[in-house]
Order: sequence, then structure tokens, then C-alpha cells
Amino acid sequence: MATNRWSIMLFVALLAAIATSVSSKEFIVGDDKGWTLNFDYQAWAYGKEFVVGDKLVFKYAAGKHNLFRVNGTVFQQCMIPPSNEALTSGYDVITLETAGRKWYICGVGKHCELGGMKLFINVLPQSTPPTPVSPAPSGKVFVVGDDKGWTLNFDYQAWAMGKEFVVGDKLVFRYPMGKHNVFRVNGTSFQQCTIPTATEALTSGYDVISLDTSGRKWYICGVGKHCLMGLKLFINVLPQSTYPPPPPPYHGARKLTPPNF
Ligand SMILES: *[C@@H]1O[C@H](CO)[C@@H](O)[C@H](O)[C@H]1NC(C)=O
Ligand SMILES: *[C@@H]1O[C@H](CO)[C@@H](O)[C@H](O)[C@H]1NC(C)=O
Repeated sequence: MATNRWSIMLFVALLAAIATSVSSKEFIVGDDKGWTLNFDYQAWAYGKEFVVGDKLVFKYAAGKHNLFRVNGTVFQQCMIPPSNEALTSGYDVITLETAGRKWYICGVGKHCELGGMKLFINVLPQSTPPTPVSPAPSGKVFVVGDDKGWTLNFDYQAWAMGKEFVVGDKLVFRYPMGKHNVFRVNGTSFQQCTIPTATEALTSGYDVISLDTSGRKWYICGVGKHCLMGLKLFINVLPQSTYPPPPPPYHGARKLTPPNF
């Protein structure tokens, strides 16, 4: 009995140790430049991974700028909220408490509209610490299209060929926000480039998709005729337990067609 309680205490201590080892990061927005005019904050945010619990620090000369957290519409149109909602300290620390999209603008003069003082980020949920029963997935991260990202005039089936996607891996779709988007679709919609109306597109410009289940996955861009022009990706996700993996199903230069047609 006593031994049992002792092992439970050890187990709890172990969990606590794992939890505290998930350290949060602090991002100085704009790094050395801080929060200032004529700085490309989307370029700054590009490729960074913001996770719940992380902090953003907006550094600027107090009085010269300020900071509003706004929604997507306000962000797009640079509408300035009531001034009593502004942060004005010159060293504004914002803890990212929830996952999802966050928008920040400067409300002084035309700094948002003309000076580029606006930042959009996507905050990812905290990954749950591994529990003893399920081994930590050794997830790989695939940036779709590598350096090119998610763009027109790129052969995504050639890119996918020979790559091995396993449950637990992640796909990252990178593109200039507003220029493209990402829909996960079924084989029929993929083939016919049918843009879903019932589901929302991913639009952040840095869309991370976790491959949670095995099987075939289809992704298309829903902007204009981009899908018909080839902005589409088909992959096959292997189950995690398949070690050593079977030879990849894609061989040679033949283009893959989803086999359900
Ligand atoms: C965005 O915020 C503005 C101002 O607070 C508000 O009027 C508007 O309804 C909001 N839009 C959405 C989509 O939440
Ligand atoms: C594929 O998705 C479309 C649009 O969401 C839906 O109408 C259609 O029934 C789906 N087809 C299959 C085979 O699941």
C-alpha cells in the first residue's frame, strides 16, 4: 500500500517535471527595431511558431506609438478603436492565452494604414506533454513546396513523390496572406476542383495541419482558378506503427491519380 502511494507520488512529480519543461517563449516584436514605422511585421512573423503561453513584447517610445488588439476586419481596414482601449506603456507585454488568429495595430495617426504598423499572427495550441502510455510521436514537419511554399506553377505531386508522410507529422502551407488559401477536401472535390462552401478555408499564410489519421488527404487552393491551375496536393499518410515502412507507393515519374476514380 505504502509502496503504491510512493509510486503515485513519483508519477505525479514526473508529470509536473514534464509540464514545467514546456517552456514558454518571449518574442520581442520587430526584434532590435521594436514596434516602429516602415518595418515588415509579416516578414518578421513568417516562420515563427507562436504557442499558447508565449509572450509578445511591443517595445516603442511611449507616446510615439501605441497598441490595440483588434479583429480581422479592423486590422484589414486600419480602423482605430476608442483610445481608452490602447496599450501605451512603451513596453507592452501580451501573453498569448488562447490559440487562433490575433491581430495588432498601432492607433497613432496613419501608422497602421500607411506606416505598416500591423501584425497578424496565428497562435498554436500547446501540445500536450507526452503521457507514459502513448509514446511521443516523432513528428516531421513538411513545408509544402519547400522554399517555394504554396504557390502557382509548382508541381506538388512531384514534391510529394518519395516523401513519407506518417501520422503525427505536420504539413505547413506557406503563402502571402490573401493570395491563396487552403481547403482540405475529398477525392471528388480534389479531382473536380470544387471549392467547398460548407467549410472555412485556412487563410493565415502559415497554415499548420497535423496529420492525425492515416489514409489519403487532399488539399486545394480555393482562390480563383488556382486549383484548376495546379495548386492542389494529394498525399497518402501512413500509420505510425508501420516500422520499417513499406516502400513508398510512388515510383517513377508517373503522376499519381487518387485511385477512387
Ligand atoms: C470587429 O471589431 C469592430 C470594432 O470593435 C466591431 O464593430 C465589429 O463588429 C467586429 N467584427 C467582427 C467580425 O467581429
Ligand atoms: C465530397 O465533398 C463534397 C463537398 O463537401 C460533397 O458534396 C461530396 O458528397 C463528397 N463526396 C464524397 C464521396 O464524400
